[in-house]
Order: sequence, then C-alpha cells, then structure tokens
Amino acid sequence: MRDSRIGFGLLGAGLIAPFHAKALQSSALTELVAVADLDAQRLERMTAAFGCKGYPSLEAMLEDPRIDAVSVITPNHLHHDAVVASAAAGRHVLIEKPPAMSLAEVDSMAAACRKAGVKACVSVQCRTRKAVQAIRAAIQCGRFGRIYHADTYMKWFRSTEYYRSDAWRISRRSGAGVTINQAFHYVDLLQYLVGPASTVHARMNNLAHPEINLEDTLLAFVEYRCGAQGVVQASTALWPGTDVRIEINGENGTAIMAGERMETWKFRDERPEDAEIRQYGSASVATGATGAADLGFQDHQVVIEDLARAIMDDREPMITIESVRPTLEWSLAMYLSAKLGAPVALPVQDEEAVW
Ligand SMILES: NC(=O)c1ccc[n+]([C@@H]2O[C@H](COP(=O)([O-])OP(=O)(O)OC[C@H]3O[C@@H](n4cnc5c(N)ncnc54)[C@H](O)[C@@H]3O)[C@@H](O)[C@H]2O)c1
Repeated sequence: MRDSRIGFGLLGAGLIAPFHAKALQSSALTELVAVADLDAQRLERMTAAFGCKGYPSLEAMLEDPRIDAVSVITPNHLHHDAVVASAAAGRHVLIEKPPAMSLAEVDSMAAACRKAGVKACVSVQCRTRKAVQAIRAAIQCGRFGRIYHADTYMKWFRSTEYYRSDAWRISRRSGAGVTINQAFHYVDLLQYLVGPASTVHARMNNLAHPEINLEDTLLAFVEYRCGAQGVVQASTALWPGTDVRIEINGENGTAIMAGERMETWKFRDERPEDAEIRQYGSASVATGATGAADLGFQDHQVVIEDLARAIMDDREPMITIESVRPTLEWSLAMYLSAKLGAPVALPVQDEEAVW
C-alpha cells in the first residue's frame, strides 16, 4: 500500500539541505524520498546522512513516482526553471527564498503552477514565528491604531569563507548580496505585517568584504502604502552578528521582536493574553546572526507541513508565491534606488533598469 505521507525530493544538497531533510524526517506528514544534485560529493554526503535516494539531476528525480513535491533549494537564480519543470511534471513545489530573481520570473512560475494545478509555497519561514503571528493578529484587529513606524535592523556577520564557499554567493545576477539574499526574510516580514512599500530610498555599500564586488550593507528609508514609514538596515559586516530586530510602533502600542523572541509587547489597552505573548520565543534559538548555518529547522518544518496539508486538503498554502511578490519588488526597488542615488516609487516600472 502506498504511504499516505507526502513524498518530497530535494533539489540541491548544499548548505540548507540538511535543514529541509531534518524537518521532513521529523514530521509525520512528510517523507524525504530523495535528493538531487549535480555535485556527486554533496549528493553522497546527503544520502549517507539521511538514508534517502540520490539522483544526479532534477529530470532523473522527476521519474520517481514516489515524489509528490520538489523542494527547490538551488542557488537563487536557478529557482525559476526548476519550478517550471517540476510543475510541468505534476509536482507540487516548495521554493527557497527569494523565489526568483525578477518579477517576470515570479509571474511565470506562479502561472506554471496554476496551469499545472499544483501547490506552490515559498520558504520565508520567519513568518511562522509565534511573535510574528502575534504582531500580525494585533495589526489586523487594529490594536496598534495608526502605524507610525515599521523597521528592521539586521546586524549580522558573514565571513570571507562564507562568500568564497560557492561561486553564486559573490554574484549579483545569481542572487547574492545582503539585500536580496539575507535581508529578504526581514523585508518580507515588514511587507507581511504592514503591507507593501510605496517609496524606497536606499544606499548600499561594502564595509568589510573587499574580496566581493557586492553590497554587504544596506540602509533604506521606506514609506508604506498604508502611510507608515520605516527603516531597513541590513548588514553582513557587523561582527559577531546580533539578533535581527523587527520594530513596530503604532499610536497605541509597540512591539519589538529580537531573533524570534518578543522583546517588547506594550499596548495602552493591556489584555490578559499579553503576559503570555511577552514570553514568546526563546533566547536559545539561533536565527542566523553569526553564520549561514546558525539556524534551527523548526520554522522550515512549519512551512513544509503546511504545504503537505495544503496538498492533502486541496487548499492554498499559507505562503503563496503571490504573497511574496511584493517583497521581491521592494528589494528590487532598493537596488534601483541605490543605483540611481534617488528615491524610487513602486511599482517598479522597468525591471531591467535594476540591473
Ligand atoms: N530559508 C532560509 O533561511 C535559507 C537559508 C539558507 C539558504 N536559503 C536558500 O536556499 C537556497 C540554497 O542555498 P544554499 O546556501 O544551500 O546553497 P548551496 O550553494 O550551498 O547549495 C545549492 C546546491 O544546489 C546544487 N545545484 C546547483 N544547480 C543544480 C542543478 N541544476 N541541479 C541540481 N543541483 C544543483 C549545487 O551543486 C549545490 O550543492 C538559496 O535559494 C538560498 O537563498 C534559505
């Protein structure tokens, strides 16, 4: 009898692959069936560590009837083609962040999944944190009142060895750079919580990584469509790296998340549940501040299990491609603004101008 769990194949056996594998093997809803990678050594390491099948390519993995869903965890610029091919083969997809390198690619991926009738979700797993969900619920029920400020401060560190570990990590076209790669999660949280940006004014520079020809630091002023304003600060130059912060200030309250801990939760109308919300998160959970593998897999597991349930119940996943599109647009607008040295109003009119 066929296993009722959703069978996953990982496309990519690199840095993030073990986190996906652990999440899949820790869930009663999912099975890690196989991993595919062009690099035989990496593939061998993953199959030995997790006791699953190994394939030398996506095409070979798609021949396996036990694969219901493909997790596309290759470098950023390779997501689009793999998603389109997997969807055409009738497989559901989980896509690592950023979903693709351009809005045109994002739209093409979403259309391919719709046409094939498969589910697609994006792994911006920070959305699932309890502190984020509490902030979102409070915003949606109007508890903050008017939102004045929504900011993120990502003061992280990545070493020279990290940038040298793979060619794509030093290539803008491949999706490297602190703005599109690391800060994407936190720009996404601001977008998820407060809504799309209407204008961005960004400045980018390289403070501590002379070996790469990319920004390791971003500073941006943001105006939101809802009327709020904010700051995006993100860097991989700030040793040793400290917990990322999301700060929301409204006329009636302030919430600050540090890492995944609710650091400040204060409203004019104190409610009974507030004491518990203040305890959300734990200082012991790593969230990426000091190194790329300085992470837990639990947030990924929530995203993966949601996709499995979406497949089983034939509903939309929690984090759709469409819901992440405004984050990519905001990120691209920041690149354009830094290039022009001027504010940029969204929507971005000419994507090619970003490059
Ligand atoms: N959600 C998160 O917190 C998080 C954290 C780290 C990385 N990521 C994302 O995960 C993705 C992968 O990042 P990584 O750090 O693991 O990269 P990586 O370079 O360590 O691994 C990517 C792997 O893909 C393989 N690959 C490349 N092209 C392939 C192809 N055509 N077919 C099969 N395999 C191919 C490479 O050989 C490599 O082993 C990126 O999109 C990255 O942004 C997300």
